[in-house]
Amino acid sequence: MSFNSVVVYHSILLLGAPGSGKGTQGKILGTIPGFYHCACGDVFRAVDPRSDYGKAFIHYSSKGQLVPDDVTIGLWAAQIESMERTGRFKPETDFLVLDGIPRNVNQAKILIDKLDVRRVFHLDCPDKSKVYDRLKRRALKENRIDDINDEVIERRQQIYEQETKPVLDFYGEKLITEVDSAQLPYQVLRDILTAIEHHGDGLE
Ligand code: AP5
Repeated sequence: MSFNSVVVYHSILLLGAPGSGKGTQGKILGTIPGFYHCACGDVFRAVDPRSDYGKAFIHYSSKGQLVPDDVTIGLWAAQIESMERTGRFKPETDFLVLDGIPRNVNQAKILIDKLDVRRVFHLDCPDKSKVYDRLKRRALKENRIDDINDEVIERRQQIYEQETKPVLDFYGEKLITEVDSAQLPYQVLRDILTAIEHHGDGLE
């Protein structure tokens, strides 16, 4: 997998099961100067559904499955490099706030030279019924094909446990901050910001 830009991205990862609140927190962080939010699911949802990328996304996400890694990284790289070229993301000054990527250990390995990961926030909501309620409520508000039925939601949770959770071990304990995402959104944000402050401007 190749990137056109050789710049390394200083990154903060939001990692958690579907419905844990990655997108909610990522969007807020992205409004703070010096932070640029990029959600992999949003990158897919913005693609023309008639294109090859769009068709692949619908095919896999409607079953609750991950899109193959080559498609995912290819599309993501094109998007982030376009944001870099147009000056919306400034890698020399911005922290890249990633949600939804890397989604498995293979993606983390592919991105190892591209991402300088400064902190991984594990948004954990042990009460699964809370997460299901959130996703069901969102399904009524937004046109999310992957929230449509219980079977797909359940499949996404299983894939998270099997494929995405091991990404935490890949980055290791020292980089991880555990956050209780069953709290109210402002409390989750407070915990994230407190950790960012604690780890300093450079998030060392
Ligand atoms: P993606 O869009 O990444 O979905 P997801 O990870 O399943 O995450 P969600 O968007 O469902 O949840 P979230 O954690 O962002 O929660 P949110 O903040 O929205 O991916 C969709 C699909 O794309 C995948 O299944 C896959 O097919 C494909 N894909 C994407 N990336 C990929 C990759 N790297 N590789 C391969 N395939 C990939 O919150 C959910 C709801 O809860 C909202 O309504 C919100 O308002 C509410 N809420 C949030 N926080 C709180 C809170 N603290 N209290 C109460 N309500 C809250």
